[in-house]
Amino acid sequence: MTNASSTTNVIEVCDLKKTIVSSTSRVDILKGLSFNVPRGQFVAIMGASGSGKSTLLGLLAGLDTVTSGTITLDGVEISRLKEDDLARLRGRKIGFVFQAYQLVPTLTAEENVLLPAELVGANGQPRSRAKELLERVGLSNRSHHYPVQLSGGEQQRVALARAFITKPPILMADEPTGNLDSANGQQVLQLLMDLNKLDATTLVLVTHDRKLAEHADRIITLTDGLIISDEMAA
Ligand SMILES: Nc1ncnc2c1ncn2[C@@H]1O[C@H](COP(=O)(O)OP(=O)(O)OP(=O)(O)O)[C@@H](O)[C@H]1O
Ligand SMILES: [Mg+2]
Repeated sequence: MTNASSTTNVIEVCDLKKTIVSSTSRVDILKGLSFNVPRGQFVAIMGASGSGKSTLLGLLAGLDTVTSGTITLDGVEISRLKEDDLARLRGRKIGFVFQAYQLVPTLTAEENVLLPAELVGANGQPRSRAKELLERVGLSNRSHHYPVQLSGGEQQRVALARAFITKPPILMADEPTGNLDSANGQQVLQLLMDLNKLDATTLVLVTHDRKLAEHADRIITLTDGLIISDEMAA
């Protein structure tokens, strides 16, 4: 795709559907979503439990395959990519933060942060960037600790540093504060927004929490697999 819109929109979603069929049932999870996200925007995805938020994020991140419709990331239509091209694109373009941190338990904080850079063979100096990111999230003095030695808030801050190590143009986060108390949740959100500004990353944040969503430039709300509202911040 080389049309003008793909240069300003880092994410383009067109009539996206996801249906899961088993021998006994058929679930229409996403029923035709269309939206674009311009570069640098912070968009929050809200909606009740089961409305399709995580499914949407998994599709946007290329972790799952669409039933129909298209997703274009930075001008590349991902549904047409073969698995290894998709993996490469994911490694270069997308950082992901999960609700349950998902650090590798046998690696230290610093090794966890370095991991994506090693996987994509990032050039530059990933080790010094890892140190810098750990400092930015306030964990310089924990860099040689293992996940089990860290609190939930600390683990999530390591996960944030890890997500930014490759300077991805798009950062996706699924309930990144869902397991944290409100003070730690606020801190993680603030860091996410700071890191986001620093590298002019596009941020897609799934959250139940309207107070967190109100920090976004835009809130898209899903109900039952459809967008029921798409509003810009006042
Ligand atoms: N593999 C699957 N097979 C069948 N149904 C599924 C599958 N994955 C998800 N669903 C259904 O799709 C719907 C949307 O799930 P999804 O995880 O996207 O919701 P969500 O909005 O992220 O909810 P939550 O806020 O609870 O995390 C749910 O009704 C869920 O039960
Ligand atoms: Mg979910």
